[in-house]
Amino acid sequence: METLTSEFVRACSLDELKAKGRLVVHGRHPPILLVYDNGRAFALDNRCPHMGFPLERGSVADGILTCHWHHARFDLASGCTFDLWADDVPTCPVEVREPGEVWVKPVFGHADPAGHWRRRLQEGLAHNLDLVIAKAVRGQLVAGVPAPEIIRQVALFGLQNRDGWGVGLTILTAFGNLLPELPEEETYLALFHGARRVAADCESQPPRRDRAPLASRPDLAVLKRWLRHWTKVRHREAAERTLLTAIATGASPAALADLLVSAAADRVYADGGHLLDFINKACECLDLIGWEHASAVLPSVVGQLVSARGAEEATAWRHPIDLVALCEQAAQEIRSLPVAVSGGEPWSEHVGLAEALLGDDPNAILESLKAAMRAGASPSD
Ligand code: FES
Repeated sequence: METLTSEFVRACSLDELKAKGRLVVHGRHPPILLVYDNGRAFALDNRCPHMGFPLERGSVADGILTCHWHHARFDLASGCTFDLWADDVPTCPVEVREPGEVWVKPVFGHADPAGHWRRRLQEGLAHNLDLVIAKAVRGQLVAGVPAPEIIRQVALFGLQNRDGWGVGLTILTAFGNLLPELPEEETYLALFHGARRVAADCESQPPRRDRAPLASRPDLAVLKRWLRHWTKVRHREAAERTLLTAIATGASPAALADLLVSAAADRVYADGGHLLDFINKACECLDLIGWEHASAVLPSVVGQLVSARGAEEATAWRHPIDLVALCEQAAQEIRSLPVAVSGGEPWSEHVGLAEALLGDDPNAILESLKAAMRAGASPSD
């Protein structure tokens, strides 16, 4: 077969296939392996889906094809693998026509490529199979699925199949933020590595149990007070239902972020700062996949929110110098600073503030913060 075609083409005589048991059909398509077994002809891609070993060199017994490189086994009729790490072999239609000729249709595609690879991504994530994840991400990109949609699929999988935010979701979100800056060939790598880290985080983990919002709709000030209280007394379920209720009221992204950050900031440097990182990344994740998923994403940080230890509970922060008392004093000073009236010049000293924060001079930090407050910089600045 020399021309690329989507029509059936004659491959060989049935007698020849019966005599040889298997043969490979070459052409302008991937090599096709024809196998005769138990009175039937089968046609499969000759390249092992695991690492490309020629399947013509494998064994066939009782309807099962075995690749001889890493011993993956495949159902001859469907190409489905018995060894999930190897992935399925693509098959193509084959017919035996009178008077004893074998015809194949050299097409390995899927009727709905995007849907096929979306399902395969879910399977790859569920079983933590790098090879399947890699192919499914690539397959979706080739099928024209936008990268943010793939981020959404992976993020929602990670949120449903693990009881809490994990490092994989942080990595996925960080890569998602980078996507607009990445060249096309690196988009694939970013998505793949984000997805595989999420899958690894979910392996052997209990899935998340959904909780419901309250049936009432208290206003945000009440919900904020409640969330801080439940966080303080470490009551996860109550905190989660309170947060879900705030989401159900239609609170804005800024209000939801404020709710979580306020509760987290009641403990000094909670969880070594990781808690704020997680909350920040969860909000960034929603910026990527859409805030309509807030009830799936934000509760994932509540476990850490209520269990986080504050620095005020650690001796290292209390002795020989009471750092917590110093922080509280600095906070008081900042609060007492006059704030510029709105409508003034926008504050633009971000670089100076960042350098002060990264340095080790507490006075420089305080002066930079004071300058920002005087200029009326908002939290988003
Ligand atoms: S290449 Fe076939 S099992 Fe690895």
